Amino acid sequence: MVDTTRLRDKVMVITGAASGIGRACAVRYAQEGAQVVLADLNADGGEAAAKEITSNGGQAVFQHTDVSVTAQLDALLKRAIDVYGQVDVWHNNAFTSVFKPIYEQTLEEFDDTIRISLRAYWYGSKIAVEHLMEREAKGVILHTASVQSYFGERGFSAYQVTKGGILSLARSIGVDCAPKSRSYSSGRIKGYKKLPRSRHQVIKKTKKVNKEKLKAS
Ligand SMILES: NC(=O)c1ccc[n+]([C@@H]2O[C@H](COP(=O)([O-])OP(=O)(O)OC[C@H]3O[C@@H](n4cnc5c(N)ncnc54)[C@H](O)[C@@H]3O)[C@@H](O)[C@H]2O)c1
Repeated sequence: MVDTTRLRDKVMVITGAASGIGRACAVRYAQEGAQVVLADLNADGGEAAAKEITSNGGQAVFQHTDVSVTAQLDALLKRAIDVYGQVDVWHNNAFTSVFKPIYEQTLEEFDDTIRISLRAYWYGSKIAVEHLMEREAKGVILHTASVQSYFGERGFSAYQVTKGGILSLARSIGVDCAPKSRSYSSGRIKGYKKLPRSRHQVIKKTKKVNKEKLKAS
């Protein structure tokens, strides 16, 4: 049973929302009461996803966005503010990658992967955090990571650089912005519950720093 009030009054931006996980998240966010701004390079898929939401009584708009272009991410934030007044949650989810061994990859393919699947996460997070700070509001920066954030697998080097980087990004934003903002990455998948020891240590340390900042504020 969906709690249709859980995300009431929350404005949520999600990239890569025209298909797959991004589209499913956008639909669910709207079902739970959020006002959703969907972004994607795929205009037909993005418009269709937004229409699916609005025709079922939800609130959503689509903004055609190439996340590798910073001006288009700025425009995405602006559209969300113009339509819904603010942003509370920014979900980085869009991705591309090449899946072949490092000795077959070109630098151009690697750069392309980084621009879309890591650099855009950093820039989107940055402008969303700045917006939250301006409003002196609490918010959430969410990233879709992967089980590939933790393991090595043949043909995944470019993808794994981005997914590993996303976890580090989430941790650093958490520390930079505590206690005002929370930053999550969804990298844990059923069956892979045991995380490397070092990660537990980082999380423990981050929690301690956050607690101290909260006490001091
Ligand atoms: N599918 C899986 O098994 C799986 C597992 C772990 C993590 N993930 C992660 O989930 C996220 C979504 O993956 P998915 O499987 O739903 O993929 P998908 O291909 O269905 O969705 C990716 C979306 O990103 C969009 N996109 C690509 N380049 C873009 C750009 N430059 N600007 C804007 N949008 C762009 C695509 O048009 C597409 O709609 C990704 O971050 C992926 O790494 C997926």
